[in-house]
Amino acid sequence: MSPPPLESLEALRAWVGDCQRCPLCAGRTHLVFGSGNPAARLVFVGEGPGQDEDLEGEPFVGAAGRLLTDIIEKGMKLPRSEVYICNVVKCRPLRNRNPEPDEIAACSPILRSQLRLVGPEIIIALGKFAAQTLLASDTPITRLRGQWHEWEGIPVMPTFHPAYLLRNPAFKREVWADIRMVLARLGAAR
Ligand code: URA
Repeated sequence: MSPPPLESLEALRAWVGDCQRCPLCAGRTHLVFGSGNPAARLVFVGEGPGQDEDLEGEPFVGAAGRLLTDIIEKGMKLPRSEVYICNVVKCRPLRNRNPEPDEIAACSPILRSQLRLVGPEIIIALGKFAAQTLLASDTPITRLRGQWHEWEGIPVMPTFHPAYLLRNPAFKREVWADIRMVLARLGAAR
């Protein structure tokens, strides 16, 4: 069920409540809604909380999160607090398995509402699940990344997930190329 029209992220968080809309609620410690600037120019969308995020209730606070923070702060020279960060699914899939299509479908109205409320200038989709969900596509991330796409008129840049970069550091070069395209577009819009 989609949320009614809401005026703020806090109102959306209240509407989500103690969510029982999919089976992931059974295994969670915290629902990880999202964090950052509610009026961010740039939103990062990840896949779903891991163990650290589930325990803390914040997105991207584990090893992949530290790499994402470096990309934002050292690479893009932006304070992490200036962007908004959320995930496709808000509750941790146990043992870090991939989210199932019905779990993604149950959580998507929340993501859509979140993105409409923030209304960023650019969305970065981190990894296959974020990119394929936002773009309603089954094209592999290797072909989606590095090109501009759109979600409800907002430019979307898919890139590799930081957890993938931890396992395959050679692909940092591609991510940096994608990030440079985002920085160029953000700079041009200033
Ligand atoms: N991976 C994700 O996709 N999201 C998080 O919040 C943490 C790790």
